[in-house]
Amino acid sequence: MPWTKNSWRDFPIQQQPDWPCQDELANAVGQLSSWPPLVFAGEARTLRTRLADACDGRAFLLQGGDCAESFAEFSPNTIRDNFRVMLQMAVVLTYAAKRPVIKVGRLAGQFAKPRSQNLEIRGDIQLPSYRGDMINGTAFTEHARRPNPHRMMRAYSQSASTLNLLRAFAQGGYADLHQVHSWNLNFVRDSPAGERYHKLCERISESLDFMAALGLRSENVPEIREADIYTSHEALILEYEEAMTRTDSTTGNPYDCSAHMLWIGDRTRQIDGAHVEFLRGVYNPLGLKAGPTMTSDELLRLCEILNPNNEPGRLTVICRMGADKVQALLPPLVQAVQREGYAVLWSCDPMHGNTMLSSTGYKTRPFDRIQAEVRGFFEVHNALGSHPGGIHCELTGQDVTECTGGADNIAEEDLSSRYHTHCDPRLNGRQSLELAYLIAELLDS
Ligand code: PEP
Ligand code: CO
Repeated sequence: MPWTKNSWRDFPIQQQPDWPCQDELANAVGQLSSWPPLVFAGEARTLRTRLADACDGRAFLLQGGDCAESFAEFSPNTIRDNFRVMLQMAVVLTYAAKRPVIKVGRLAGQFAKPRSQNLEIRGDIQLPSYRGDMINGTAFTEHARRPNPHRMMRAYSQSASTLNLLRAFAQGGYADLHQVHSWNLNFVRDSPAGERYHKLCERISESLDFMAALGLRSENVPEIREADIYTSHEALILEYEEAMTRTDSTTGNPYDCSAHMLWIGDRTRQIDGAHVEFLRGVYNPLGLKAGPTMTSDELLRLCEILNPNNEPGRLTVICRMGADKVQALLPPLVQAVQREGYAVLWSCDPMHGNTMLSSTGYKTRPFDRIQAEVRGFFEVHNALGSHPGGIHCELTGQDVTECTGGADNIAEEDLSSRYHTHCDPRLNGRQSLELAYLIAELLDS
């Protein structure tokens, strides 16, 4: 069947809101289709070539950000602090692994969430579940939970402003390597990982002085002065993604210009489903979540559909098995891909398979489990001779208490103190840096 940007409409689709008014939806989608793209197709192509390097171990993918962005937490400080944490993690990884780190944010578009229940029931009231700020609101009222297509336009505007600020930070001097010290957030500074980072900064400063003596300075070396940051989100609401899909004038190919990279969630990766149909036709780099129910046959079929020309960098498989399952479930997938010779970038999401309910009633993730899944992921790849090429995390630069453990030893009783997430629990700045050090050691060993 030929692909068009709306051919997904003939396929069964999961995890969609029940839009109450089709006219409102058509109106919003019509406007979005006429608005400017958020990213340029050429950037998505550059990202794909960079990811191709990560496939065979010449680079490493760092993908991270909020579980869900929100309208309420839209502020320059949140964007800056998330970017700072990504920069810090990238510096730690680059220094240890001596290879470029490709920074991809879960941001500037991460506004839609798959949910396990369609309805939320409180007492004798039942309302549609919250599905992300692009669709409805978190408040438990009929009005807030009604899916409202105008929210897609607001998500677009927020994404545009976020991207604008990120580009300014990345290119306007904030990300200059001479600023490494200043990326250490106040609350991170006095943690063990923060102190370790401080020492690393001293070494980097010395290297920069040495390079300056040779004439290599920020003014003449863009690699010192600027950083690249790409955007990504789960392509869940296909009306939005379709509206943002444009034909690239350089190549004539369709690109989903809502972000550089789009991924398919673990709940919407059905081989004959609408999400796979839509994403197979756009030329962006794609992510595919693989949870415990992914079989080798399914994965091979998905590789064939999503990457028919077997281009390295096109497909990143983001494994999220859980710390207790990764050793058993990952090897057959890796072996099947090796046997068939598919080009896959393997990334580890140590978050989504390790979510649990604390005794105090909060959705949380124990940091030692997150670390254990990362270790397991590296062990499997090292044993099979394939490349552990990336990490996918939910994190924030804010000083939150959402995941238990880490050097601060956040206890279940502490979770209530600063639990701010709109959806899943995120690593705070300290925990993120601590995780970067673990990965750096694993990459360096
Ligand atoms: C997510 O990344 O926020 C998510 C919902 O993940 P998954 O599809 O792996 O469950
Ligand atoms: Co999540």
